[in-house]
Amino acid sequence: HGAAHIEDITFSFEGPLGNYDQFQLQRGLQVYTEVCSACHGLRYVPLRTLGDEGGPGLPEDQVRAYAANFSIIDADTEEERPRAPTDAFPTVSGDGMGPDLSLMAKARAGFHGPVGTGISQLFRGIGGPEYIHALLTSYTGEEIEQAGSVLYENTAFSTGALSMPPPLSDDIVTYEDGTPATVDQMSRDVAAFLMWTAEPKMMARKSVGLVSVLFLIVLAGLLYYTNKALWSPHK
Ligand code: HEM
Repeated sequence: HGAAHIEDITFSFEGPLGNYDQFQLQRGLQVYTEVCSACHGLRYVPLRTLGDEGGPGLPEDQVRAYAANFSIIDADTEEERPRAPTDAFPTVSGDGMGPDLSLMAKARAGFHGPVGTGISQLFRGIGGPEYIHALLTSYTGEEIEQAGSVLYENTAFSTGALSMPPPLSDDIVTYEDGTPATVDQMSRDVAAFLMWTAEPKMMARKSVGLVSVLFLIVLAGLLYYTNKALWSPHK
């Protein structure tokens, strides 16, 4: 099976000045909640981070209400209680369930080669969110029987078919902001959301990086003139 074509998407968070689009993260959260969470957990994502400014930025009362939708067996009392913002999203496992999606956007690459030089990734990025978008939009509709189980043909998946049934169809969710819920749009939104779960501090990292580079440029200039001044008597 040949390498699948992965469409390069211009996400808002790309580039040295890129930021997560808060409304897109909120739409992605909605897709995850209403569709993906039936089979996929987000065990490494603390629910309180839904209120983070660099993330979906939900108000505190909404974070608390969202968390309470999931239950957990309390570690101390060993009794079931609603989740609090200090708990993480649930773990989902069992028959027919999929892998945890917390870090999936960093565990998969959309772009490779040529011959593993990384040149393509240098210019286009690793392509984790692009891969997730491609996976969700590349079902052919064909089903393949294999050893008694059904696989769904998908041109973005490495082996050409996987056990996840196509999860999205047009208007399967209703966006509050009026964005048309096409399969393409929902795939972009949930891919952006999963990039945020995998790298929640991206915006902080980028702004520190930018300030550092500016500082180093100024420092380089000062050192240049210091060097000149120190050595000028010896010319
Ligand atoms: C695998 C995303 C909904 C069941 C995966 C993978 C991703 C993913 C990224 C990993 C593919 C890989 O290994 O490269 C999503 C998203 C969903 C969604 C974003 C919502 C839009 C669902 C639903 C189900 C499901 C609703 C169950 C009915 C599975 C299973 C696998 C899987 C069983 C393992 C497939 C295999 O390795 O053969 N999913 N998924 N997913 N998903 Fe989903």
